[in-house]
Amino acid sequence: MKGEVETGLENVVALESSITFIDGEKGILQYRGYDVEKLANLTYDEVSYLLIHGKNPEDEELEAYSRTLKDERRIGSTLIEVLGFCNFNIEAMDALKTITSLMSHCDPDLNTNNPQANTRKGMRMIAKFPTIVTSFSRLKRGMNVIEPDYEMSHGANFLYMLRGSRPTNLEARIIESDFILSADHELNPSTFAARTVTSTLSDLHSAVIGGLCTLKGPLHGGARMAVMNMLDEIDSPKGAQNFVLHKIEKHEKLMGFGHRVYKTYDPRARVYKQLAREIAMEKNDMKWFEIAEKIEGAAYEEYVQNRGKPIYPNVDFYSGVVYKYLDIPPKLATAVFATGRISGWIAHCLEQYSDNRLIRPRAKFV
Ligand SMILES: CC(C)(COP(=O)(O)OP(=O)(O)OC[C@H]1O[C@@H](n2cnc3c(N)ncnc32)[C@H](O)[C@@H]1OP(=O)(O)O)[C@@H](O)C(=O)NCCC(=O)NCCS
Repeated sequence: MKGEVETGLENVVALESSITFIDGEKGILQYRGYDVEKLANLTYDEVSYLLIHGKNPEDEELEAYSRTLKDERRIGSTLIEVLGFCNFNIEAMDALKTITSLMSHCDPDLNTNNPQANTRKGMRMIAKFPTIVTSFSRLKRGMNVIEPDYEMSHGANFLYMLRGSRPTNLEARIIESDFILSADHELNPSTFAARTVTSTLSDLHSAVIGGLCTLKGPLHGGARMAVMNMLDEIDSPKGAQNFVLHKIEKHEKLMGFGHRVYKTYDPRARVYKQLAREIAMEKNDMKWFEIAEKIEGAAYEEYVQNRGKPIYPNVDFYSGVVYKYLDIPPKLATAVFATGRISGWIAHCLEQYSDNRLIRPRAKFV
């Protein structure tokens, strides 16, 4: 056996991938060679195609891809009935796990594991995740489930199904950018989990469920919900500084801050901050944005300036602020993250299947 134990697999390079590049020192993130800041202005369909197929689509390819995704939006009455049986105290993420598992039983490509079948299965999950998440949210609130619109963009349709009314143009663009910014992040824990499941040659739905279970944790995607709860708890810009000092005093982590790879500002956080500012202005309500800026300022002073620690806002900080303005309930936040991340998981699982070696590290016996 070679090497010492690297706790948390920190800085371990586990495999080669041509999907996403990160430079954690310079704060660079690229999908398939394109800066994420630029991709955030495209549509989710264009970016999920790029992630999955490794190239930009031609016009006809994009049209066919988008049409398939739109046509696959609906979930059947059985899945909606099962959603209604879920305990409404759970997070939407738990309902998404349950329904993804059930959905695999009814998939037309059940028991087929070739690349074409897996691409079709992946597209069905990309298409249906918004419907599952929004249907659960409405049932939980005692409301009727909204049938998907088959023409709206991926993001606009998500907000439409959540609320039952069309979003503004800015809201639609922002949720589209949110899905894009959430779509992939190299070997983050949930993607690594999904690839590990894939490496046993298990099926794609099982791999995605592995990803969902991993994303849920508060050190990973669950931090977004924690950020929303933190904003509610602070409730006024005046309370931000004390909140941060209190966290330091209690040796607790500040959610939405710090990162295993970035030792500088997370490039996604910069885009989210701008989106948060824009939506706050459209709503003529700067409260959440101002609280967030105060938290960021206090964290910079305490962690970076006073303690020399590279703890900056990560992807979950200003996205939590954006979700406040989009009226996304905190218990939905991680599932909304997964609704974006699903295309990255699919891309990674397809890459893993195409050149597979079982992922099986060793432990040092003590
Ligand atoms: C993401 C995260 C798990 C990365 O952790 P990691 O690479 O294992 O780093 P560590 O937890 O070992 O932290 C290294 C140091 O920075 C501190 N630190 C890291 N993130 C911190 C945070 N959010 N708040 C306060 N201190 C933090 C640790 O306390 C530790 O300090 P020490 O060296 O004095 O003990 C961590 O930053 C974290 O828990 N963040 C909050 C949760 C979050 O936002 N997750 C979403 C990530 S995208």
